[in-house]
Amino acid sequence: MEKILVIGAAGQLGSELTQALVDRYSGEQVMATDINAAANSKFDFCRFQVLDVMDKKALTDLVAKEKFTQIYHLAAILSATGEKNPHFAWALNMESLLTVLELAKIHGIKVYWPSSIAVFGPNTPMQNTPQHCVMDPNTVYGISKQAGERWCEYYFQKYGVDVRSLRYPGLIGYKSLPGGGTTDYAVDIYHKAIAGEAFECFLSEKTYLPMMYMPDAIKATLDLMHAPKEQVKIRSSYNLSGMSFSPKEIHESILRKYPDFKISYQPDFRQAIADSWPDSIDDSAARADWGWAHQYDLDAMTDDILANLPAYMKHFV
Ligand code: SER
Repeated sequence: MEKILVIGAAGQLGSELTQALVDRYSGEQVMATDINAAANSKFDFCRFQVLDVMDKKALTDLVAKEKFTQIYHLAAILSATGEKNPHFAWALNMESLLTVLELAKIHGIKVYWPSSIAVFGPNTPMQNTPQHCVMDPNTVYGISKQAGERWCEYYFQKYGVDVRSLRYPGLIGYKSLPGGGTTDYAVDIYHKAIAGEAFECFLSEKTYLPMMYMPDAIKATLDLMHAPKEQVKIRSSYNLSGMSFSPKEIHESILRKYPDFKISYQPDFRQAIADSWPDSIDDSAARADWGWAHQYDLDAMTDDILANLPAYMKHFV
């Protein structure tokens, strides 16, 4: 019987992926963990435990005791937050991954670990960025994700650890608040529209970034984790693509429902981060190897978020 540990479960991805895992398995089989004790209230549908992923002993003891068969290691410091404390971001993102990989090696555990478009950099081809190309990340988050990809492949090749990973584009969902990422403007903008406030964007109007609506990201993650082993040919991390849009385009998409919604542009340090990332991604390897296909485009995402976020707002107060 599968037993699943989710680390960093209260974050943007974990908040939705944990529910999807419980739907697929059961609340008894899934344990959500997070450093934030208050997150307990979000997880009444599965087991929950407080866990600081930097506490190696606590994690090691938990894994030995519970005999997990899968770990989804989602805890990380994102791009914009990471720039404010680079050494801490490096320590958290890297040490936690190495601990998880080592535990996976010892106990034969299957691992999911998210990578990101942040592994790319200024010398990466910007349009339809290929799976294999120049990668020169210049944020500490991106550096940690690229190094992490190399460690994942290393543990697969040297020790046979069944570790799987996706290079997520900017993820957009309505079930969590913006979490310190450069792409999170595209989460925040919906909150402002619904609140009837104007939106000040920290990126310029023509900044294109690869993005994905959360249901597509959850589907990609579960599809990859449940694909037969021989179909998972890339053990660093798969390029993954949904849509690409600029702040101007997401504003226009929201205008269809909120015609008075105002936007202004005030680029800050996050503009340079966005400028170093691709405009769009070639994910043909994921499509060929394990049948990936996305569903949501910008307007479909906007319609779904605007229909659901107002009622969901009460969860944030
Ligand atoms: N969404 C992340 C960020 O902006 C990128 O993976 O930091």
